[in-house]
Amino acid sequence: MGESLHNLVERANILLEALPYIRHFFGKTIVVKYGGHAMVDEQLKESFARDIVLMKYIGINPIVVHGGGPQIGEIMKKMGKKPKFVDGLRVTDRETMDIVEMVLGGKVNKEIVALINKHGGSAVGLTGKDGMLFIAKKLYIERNAPQTQAPEIIDLGHVGEVVKVDAGILDILARERFIPVIAPIGVGEDGTPYNINADWVASKIASATKAERLIFMTDVDGIRDQKGNLISSLVKETALRMIDEGTIQGGMIPKVRAGIDAMEHGVKKVHIVNGTIPHCIILELFTDTGIGTEIVA
Ligand SMILES: Nc1ncnc2c1ncn2[C@@H]1O[C@H](COP(=O)(O)OP(=O)(O)OP(=O)(O)O)[C@@H](O)[C@H]1O
Ligand SMILES: [Mg+2]
Repeated sequence: MGESLHNLVERANILLEALPYIRHFFGKTIVVKYGGHAMVDEQLKESFARDIVLMKYIGINPIVVHGGGPQIGEIMKKMGKKPKFVDGLRVTDRETMDIVEMVLGGKVNKEIVALINKHGGSAVGLTGKDGMLFIAKKLYIERNAPQTQAPEIIDLGHVGEVVKVDAGILDILARERFIPVIAPIGVGEDGTPYNINADWVASKIASATKAERLIFMTDVDGIRDQKGNLISSLVKETALRMIDEGTIQGGMIPKVRAGIDAMEHGVKKVHIVNGTIPHCIILELFTDTGIGTEIVA
């Protein structure tokens, strides 16, 4: 005998518990930033792809923006090139830019596209160049020099920021059965290629598509306070204060800043979830409590 009737009814109940959420998100856009640090093992990648496909089939328009810091580092190592960072930001000379473009726009992007397609989706890989999705400009970092504290401007080479998004191509894809998968590479007005922080690309795409949610999938459970406790919900003022105090650091800073910027442009909520937990997106979206951190207005 297979499963008992009781178990089957239980299964139906689990599905139906998601109904209010499915109804709420029907027809809405959800932008998912898939962090390079969350792309760790094969099984997790498969579970990510299935979650995205499920979202599409129940009437949500998922848009994936991916990172790939560790993957770039790995290939650079194989090529005998030493990565250089200033304040956690990758210095990108012309040769490094070529590698970034090959790894992010090629290998990583197409791997995600193929995985989604394998599970029954129709993913389309894009960079900022495709359909002129977004225009970038060179990013200059202002800081106080560590020794003298004198203000200085740092040139990181081919590192850019998004200045303009044309969501036209995304609207066309989303209206049909396609799932856009975006690599964080853009070009300036003059055609210069730029490597852009994927958290910021996700934020700008979420704003331009009037997304209901922006989800950052990373390699930690969410934002932790000074004592190391996970915060399940916080307002943007608290998040900004935690950056000033130094409680939020490194790779979490662009997530918080970019997330708040998206909320200021109409995105309803921002989530930070642990991509190393299988089906983290589904758990965050379709349950009351969620599993990670949400930033609310
Ligand atoms: N207060 C905090 N709470 C949680 N994590 C924090 C905090 N402050 C800093 N972090 C760091 O932020 C990191 C996440 O950002 P990181 O840039 O490393 O990954 P990612 O953005 O997911 O991947 P990628 O940059 O490759 O796309 C965590 O691994 C953690 O070390
Ligand atoms: Mg990062």
